Amino acid sequence: MSFAASRAHAETLDHNDPLAEFRSRFHLPPGRARSTAIYFCGNSLGLQPKGVRDLIDEELEDWARYAVLGHLEARRPWLPYHEQLTTDTALLVGARAAEVVNMNTLTVNLHLMMVSFYRPTSDRHCILIEQGAFPSDRYAVVSHLGHHGYSAQQALIEAAPRSGEDCVRHEDLEALLAREGRRIALVMLPGVQYRTGQSFDIARITRAAHAQGARVGFDLAHAAGNVELRMHDWGADFACWCTYKYLNAGPGAVAGCFVHQRHAEASELPRFAGWWGHDKAKRFLMQPDFEVLTGAEGWQISNPPILSMAPLVISLAMFREAGMERVIEKSRLLTGWLEFLVDKRLSREIEIVTPNEPTERGCQLSLRLRSGVRSAKRVFAALEQRDVVCDWREPDIIRVAPVPLYNTFTEVWEFVDALAASLSQ
Ligand SMILES: Cc1ncc(COP(=O)(O)O)c(C=O)c1O
Repeated sequence: MSFAASRAHAETLDHNDPLAEFRSRFHLPPGRARSTAIYFCGNSLGLQPKGVRDLIDEELEDWARYAVLGHLEARRPWLPYHEQLTTDTALLVGARAAEVVNMNTLTVNLHLMMVSFYRPTSDRHCILIEQGAFPSDRYAVVSHLGHHGYSAQQALIEAAPRSGEDCVRHEDLEALLAREGRRIALVMLPGVQYRTGQSFDIARITRAAHAQGARVGFDLAHAAGNVELRMHDWGADFACWCTYKYLNAGPGAVAGCFVHQRHAEASELPRFAGWWGHDKAKRFLMQPDFEVLTGAEGWQISNPPILSMAPLVISLAMFREAGMERVIEKSRLLTGWLEFLVDKRLSREIEIVTPNEPTERGCQLSLRLRSGVRSAKRVFAALEQRDVVCDWREPDIIRVAPVPLYNTFTEVWEFVDALAASLSQ
């Protein structure tokens, strides 16, 4: 695709956008000087789909009308409520139905997965993550090391980018695994790194980790609903993601979890149990011994929180309707357009930290000002004044994510105008 740096070109791209209609199905936050803000922060919190309120109202009405009977008699019965999400979730991450479940929240699910998949021995007890991992993931990992009697100094390995680079090279990860693999019990990496926007090659990392006898799991917080995922074929042992970013399911919404079929159907894996992971045919027999459900559902602990799960029903249906292929196609064009304009107009002032290869990123670009942190913070504040919503990530990154389901090519044009004006302010 070749771009021309003009507003008219942006308008043509919008005119030809097969997903353009989806924008009207979201609540767009108002700006101060504009009718709607330029919201490029869907990588942090996705916008509210308009259908959400009706479904939450429906659940509130059913609770009022049916009370406890709603478990079976609500329009969408609460007992099997999470099951209506299974097909769409599997489609989204490229999994079999039995491999996915929506439950809890992201860090909680990472903990549950590590209970099952981090099984250290005296020879093999290290966990490999990336340097600068999202703090919650690092805290969770280090707490599991500690739980088994290891310190981070003893057992945490952090893959670093080369000096002067921001992204970790896959060949360096492979070399590290070849070197240290015998000591590594678990590799836990992001699908898309939150600060750099780098997308990792899940199949390649999984192969390298498994070749060393390590287990491997992925945090897909910034990948689900953003990049292509074929989790079953790629073969990772587990993956977890939140649904409030690209999946638009609302603040603190219920998270997703993938357990590969080869484990999901094996009941002997140790886990933390609760009644929702018990064989559902026998759950209400109230027997004392735990009989695990097969599939990822067997990791559930509690009955599902209906009010925070309802938005996911709406948002996943939207992804099914749009189709991940079309979402990715638009994403590449939209982010390519942003990259083109930043490079063309502002490359002297701004460095793009995110890889420029479309298969190595999702929709987010991470920007760094060449003039340093102090002026970057000033520019970020000036962007806010101009009705741009994006975010700042320490120590020096402005993250910008035009989201294919609700952002436009014209907004990207206006964003780059606002950025240029903020730089010269
Ligand atoms: C990569 C990553 N991991 C973990 C988390 C923590 O998520 P939660 O608070 O839902 O556990 C986030 C939140 O933004 C994240 O971006």
